Amino acid sequence: MKKWDIIENILVEKLVFWGKGFARLKSENEDIDGRVLMITWGPVPGAVVNLRLLKKRKTYFETQIVETIKKSPIEIDHPTNKYGMSGGWKWINIPYEEQLKIKEGQVQEALHNLKKRQEDITFLPIEASPTIDGYRNKVEFSYGKYLSNKYDIEQHFNVWFHKQGEFSKIEDMEWCPLIDEIQNEVYRDVKEFTKTLGLPVYDQMRQEWFFRHILIRKTHFCNEMMLLLSFNPEYFEKNTKLNKNEKLGLIKDFLIWLTEKYSFITSIYFSHNPNKADVCIWDLELIYGETTIKEELLGLSFNISPTSFFQTNSTGAEKLYSMVLDFAHKENLKDFTVLDLYGWTWTIWMIFAKHWAKYVHSVELVASASKDWEKNAQFNGITNMTFVNKKVENFLWKYLADWNTADLLIIDPPRAWMHPDALPNIINFGTKQIIYVSCNPSTLARDLEYILDNSDYKIEKIQAMDMFPHTNHIETIVSLIK
Ligand SMILES: C[S@@+](CC[C@H](N)C(=O)[O-])C[C@H]1O[C@@H](n2cnc3c(N)ncnc32)[C@H](O)[C@@H]1O
Repeated sequence: MKKWDIIENILVEKLVFWGKGFARLKSENEDIDGRVLMITWGPVPGAVVNLRLLKKRKTYFETQIVETIKKSPIEIDHPTNKYGMSGGWKWINIPYEEQLKIKEGQVQEALHNLKKRQEDITFLPIEASPTIDGYRNKVEFSYGKYLSNKYDIEQHFNVWFHKQGEFSKIEDMEWCPLIDEIQNEVYRDVKEFTKTLGLPVYDQMRQEWFFRHILIRKTHFCNEMMLLLSFNPEYFEKNTKLNKNEKLGLIKDFLIWLTEKYSFITSIYFSHNPNKADVCIWDLELIYGETTIKEELLGLSFNISPTSFFQTNSTGAEKLYSMVLDFAHKENLKDFTVLDLYGWTWTIWMIFAKHWAKYVHSVELVASASKDWEKNAQFNGITNMTFVNKKVENFLWKYLADWNTADLLIIDPPRAWMHPDALPNIINFGTKQIIYVSCNPSTLARDLEYILDNSDYKIEKIQAMDMFPHTNHIETIVSLIK
């Protein structure tokens, strides 16, 4: 069996991490019979598919679906799955209840080995996202072209997401299931208007021309919308016959007119980006309204600017943070110092500082991620917290001695990993409770095994939560007690 061979009639057994399908090869060749097949391009458990062999690894083969022979009994049709590989909702063909079962199963499987170290581990049932469709409060669309021989399509004014794995091809669609109907409506209005202007979309390959991105942020609880249109201002330098002020004026007038149609649009920006970097936020110009929009979570207010980091699922974030609060042994928390590692936007930690803890220290590597914290903390009258802009692994050993006062440790490391130097010091801190929030069950398993093997901590309970319906992402919260 060699690269590009087609493997026929394979039953997709299950989905494993990162949404890949798992199956086993049936072959008369004993050497490869039973070999694990990892499957990309929209596998649904229970489907029978033909696969293309992409790569032979030592213990498994990487494959890709070329044809579905028999649809899975659980699969549902969805209009946005035009070519079976659209956007950031690869699981939309799977009913939500099934998505939850798959995610719960993945967490339990990843953490299975912990039972060898501690028999009495409590897995609480997975919690769903309160909003299943249209849950995103932020979405970024790209302008671009789509040329495909395979589908015989040549379109030169598209707005949507990058075609999977191809940075220069943009698929064209009208409706995104991850944002609500109103966001979709505004998106379509902006798209249709910009199409009528006769200005071209930016070409990422040639790095020239005009329209680049539409960014929409809409807060769930406060119902305020921010619109941002990004374009290449240098287009007019090369096309001197066009009147730059007139064209930009038309766009500005239209976007401001939209505020009459949609009164909840309270902030509009232009982003002037002449650079190669395919980023939405560059040289910002506020053309209407306020510089920020407001969101409220668990009784706190947050002002969100175009550059602010903020959880993209507001109702999901509220639920996740409430679960963390529930996990915390709060009876003494009023006197507690909470040490939060990998703090990001400070959202959860502000909630702790406001409602529960005596003091919160939050450690975060990227200063800009927490840039808004000071204003937001002030806005909410929070003074009992500090931000430490350091690497966790460097911070811990230096500050362990001085700050040996933390009572509750909250860790929420990045998906890829936690630096190996961090864990020993986390254990050494010796807080009565550690709450570990993780978006990667396999690194969580590895870290928990280390903690159980090297300390007196015991796992009190584990619970998964789905923040991102229709994707393979999954959050897990673990309480460890000393
Ligand atoms: C999963 S996010 C944290 C999410 C956040 N706690 C929340 O409630 O939304 C992980 C964070 O760790 C930060 N980070 C990554 N490596 C780090 C390191 N070595 N030291 C400190 N922070 C780091 C990232 O910048 C990111 O903000």
